Amino acid sequence: KTILVLHGINLDMFGQRDSRHYGTVTLAQIDRRLKALGSELNVAVECFQTNHEGEMVEKIHQAHAAKTDAVVINAGAWTHYSYGIMDALGLLAAPVVEVHMSHVHAREAFRHVSVIAPVVRGQISGFGVNSYLLGLRAAVDLIRDME
Ligand code: DQA
Repeated sequence: KTILVLHGINLDMFGQRDSRHYGTVTLAQIDRRLKALGSELNVAVECFQTNHEGEMVEKIHQAHAAKTDAVVINAGAWTHYSYGIMDALGLLAAPVVEVHMSHVHAREAFRHVSVIAPVVRGQISGFGVNSYLLGLRAAVDLIRDME
C-alpha cells in the first residue's frame, strides 16, 4: 500500500515560520518521521511539496490515475480558498485525511473555513508534527478497514 503525503503552499518554509504555531521542525524532518512511521506500519510513504497550485492539482490527478491507496494533505493556505484543490481531491476514490500543524480553529476567522473539508474523511489540527503522524495512522486504518 502507498500513501501520498501532500504539502501545499509555504510548507517548505517550516522551521522558519512562526514557531508559536508551527514549532521549529523542518519539512525534511517531518518527511523523515512520516517515512519511519510508514515502515513501522508496513506502508510506503511518498511525500510531495509544491508552492504551485497547478502542480499540486496535477500531482493529485496522477494519484488518481495511479490508484494511490490514500492521501494525507496539509494544503496550507489553499485549504481556505482553493476550489481547484478541492475539485481535484474530489476525483479520488481513495480516502483523504486533512491535517494542520497549528490549531486552525483557535486562529484568525479565515482559517476556520476549509473548502476541502467536504471531500476529506476527517481533519486533524493543532498537534504539530504529530498531526501528520496521526493523519498517517488514520489513513492506514481507513485502508485496512476497506480490506
Ligand atoms: C496550516 C494552517 C494554515 O492556515 C496556514 O495557511 C498554513 C499552515 C497548518 O499546518 O497549520 O500555511 O495548514
